[in-house]
Amino acid sequence: MKQVQDYYFRKARKEGYPARSVYKLEEAQKKFSLLRPGDKVLDLGCQPGSWAIYAARVVGSGGLVVGVDINPGPIKTRGGAPFHFVLGDITRESVQEKVRNICPRYQVLISDMAPRTTGNRWADQQQSLRLARTVLELAQGLLLPGGHLYCKVFEGEDFQDLVAQARTLFAKVRVFKPKSSRAESREIFLLGWNYQD
Ligand SMILES: C[S@@+](CC[C@H](N)C(=O)[O-])C[C@H]1O[C@@H](n2cnc3c(N)ncnc32)[C@H](O)[C@@H]1O
Repeated sequence: MKQVQDYYFRKARKEGYPARSVYKLEEAQKKFSLLRPGDKVLDLGCQPGSWAIYAARVVGSGGLVVGVDINPGPIKTRGGAPFHFVLGDITRESVQEKVRNICPRYQVLISDMAPRTTGNRWADQQQSLRLARTVLELAQGLLLPGGHLYCKVFEGEDFQDLVAQARTLFAKVRVFKPKSSRAESREIFLLGWNYQD
């Protein structure tokens, strides 16, 4: 497994991405065509920037990528869509307001947010679930009808409730484990397809 991780690490380096997490989005893109040219994309938990760089390239100059993170740091996209960074905690109303001021509705909401892990598996999973619930709530105000969601969550207790909630909002819901995600990691991705406003 370490070999697989080293493979993605080296690949990311070679392709100029700051983190190998880019392949968790790229795999979803290849399988589900989440992002389309011209899309406006909201990227929650965007640092150090791999998803934002990738999304900006895919949606192209007619699109837009807005990234949010509690960590500062320069993200330099390489061509494609304009990129705006919002510094702050997306669970805060003031930060959500800044996002809305840049663009009120988006075609795609991607979230790779992860809580700072404590070593307590149960507590970390619950915190991840809380973040994913916030993402689902935000989707309801920020996604355009027909839009898509791709959201990381640590699988565990209550995860099926989250899936059930997503099913009330999207025409199709899938749970996806990218090959580039470590098998021993509990992270999985919830894909909400075609938001029903
Ligand atoms: C795994 S990293 C994201 C990697 C990124 N997708 C990339 O490809 O470079 C998770 C990020 O989520 C951010 N995060 C966690 N909770 C957050 C919150 N409440 N609001 C904003 N960002 C948050 C963390 O600061 C961290 O940078």
